Amino acid sequence: MPGTLIGVGVGPGDPELVTTRALRVLREADRVIAPTLALDAVGRAESIVRQAAPDVAVERLVFDMSPEPRPRRASHEAAAAALLGPLDAGERVAFVTLGDPNIFSTFSALAASVLATRPATRVETVPGIMAFQALAARSGTVLLDGTESMRLVTAVDGPDAVTAALADTHQAVVVYKGGRHLPAIQKSLAGAGRLDGAVVGELLGLPGERVAPAAAWPDQAATYLVTVIVPPGGRGGFEGP
Ligand SMILES: C[S@@+](CC[C@H](N)C(=O)[O-])C[C@H]1O[C@@H](n2cnc3c(N)ncnc32)[C@H](O)[C@@H]1O
Repeated sequence: MPGTLIGVGVGPGDPELVTTRALRVLREADRVIAPTLALDAVGRAESIVRQAAPDVAVERLVFDMSPEPRPRRASHEAAAAALLGPLDAGERVAFVTLGDPNIFSTFSALAASVLATRPATRVETVPGIMAFQALAARSGTVLLDGTESMRLVTAVDGPDAVTAALADTHQAVVVYKGGRHLPAIQKSLAGAGRLDGAVVGELLGLPGERVAPAAAWPDQAATYLVTVIVPPGGRGGFEGP
């Protein structure tokens, strides 16, 4: 029997946002793996599992999270190689990931690396609540209604993709990976007339969480774990916690 690799989304941070299915799959797995930057450091996903399911033992695999493609790929391959033994033994291996495993997750690269050498491996995913959903709920923002649509953009290289997405005022915009460029994103929002109604959420559900209207956010970079939501046409009204 080929082994099974399961990407399990554990939500953005709050242990109450881990789904019942995720908890069941983690408890039924032969092995639960979490990504980390160092073997002696507890990563975000592991810390969520520790709170939501303290009975589940979590093993760590080191990943290179730098923007450089070569070391990143090498770390995915090394992580995949570390899983081959358990998968060859037919184990069900669960890999926990922030938010949803099919949206900007290390899981997809890991699964691709495993499949490159073990194509018979079964790959499954358990959906997780995403940061933008948690932020909409936290701020009481209706992000989409009727026939409106949404763009989810990343701002890891700067605000250009955000500025382009904001041009259509009937479209909601969600910005991921924009921490470093938050002041430039605020300027884009103001330039597009969409600062009012936009909300920023940093470290959602995690220690140090901050949620505020984009107009009131300090003019400084945030951490990597920051999300911006912009409802269509300036709809909104979140005035702060
Ligand atoms: C690599 S992506 C992971 C996305 C995740 N798979 C999801 O479905 O939400 C990382 C980005 O997700 C967003 N994010 C994830 N968790 C977050 C949190 N707890 N608070 C704020 N933003 C978060 C941030 O924009 C961050 O830069």
